[in-house]
Amino acid sequence: ARVVKFAPSILSADFARLGEEVAAAEQAGADRIHLDVMDGHFVPNISFGAVVVEAVRRTTSLPLELHLMITNPDDYFDDFVAAGADSFLVHWEGNANLHRTIQRARHLNKGIGVAINPATPASVLEEILVDVDQVLVMTVNPGFGHQTFINTTLAKIGRVREMIDRRHPQCDLEIDGGVNAETAPLGVAAGANVLVAGTAIFGASQGAEAGMKHLRQAIE
Ligand code: DX5
Ligand code: ZN
Repeated sequence: ARVVKFAPSILSADFARLGEEVAAAEQAGADRIHLDVMDGHFVPNISFGAVVVEAVRRTTSLPLELHLMITNPDDYFDDFVAAGADSFLVHWEGNANLHRTIQRARHLNKGIGVAINPATPASVLEEILVDVDQVLVMTVNPGFGHQTFINTTLAKIGRVREMIDRRHPQCDLEIDGGVNAETAPLGVAAGANVLVAGTAIFGASQGAEAGMKHLRQAIE
């Protein structure tokens, strides 16, 4: 079986206790922290920027992956690197020069992944798959936490898994949105090896540690 990694999304964390929340996720064995940056243009919601990234950086030594749901993501790479980002997930949608964006992340010596929305086919990855470290298949429409997993993305996860195994086996396949104890096993069976989860971890009634434990048990 493939080793599954966890990337808790702080979007559903209690921002008044962010340090404790991240520490609980770390304690529970999170592999990295997923930070959802939204600008109110690329997606119809505003979340946070470099100030919060920098605050999280001070609370953990885990790698920080930034999911950039913003227009012109490259323009902010320098600021986010200064704030402590380790890798960037940028969207295929709306980026006419995705290859250049990937090169910019490489020049900064940071990890880079490409994210695709539910309506975007796996085939758009053909020419860039070998240049990225991660593929993020969105299993909800980006913009908000707490949404329902879109089941039709499972077939696409399978297609991306095939492509990765064939052409770039060390590439991570992450899924993001509506991942919980019911949907995580489906995503993993389809081929995902990294689970992003907000609500299932930070929204768990008994805290992030219990939330992650529950999620882990579901895929065992
Ligand atoms: C949605 C974000 C997700 C979100 C996931 O736009 O990319 O990372 O925080 O939240 P849940 O796990 O609640 O669906
Ligand atoms: Zn995300």
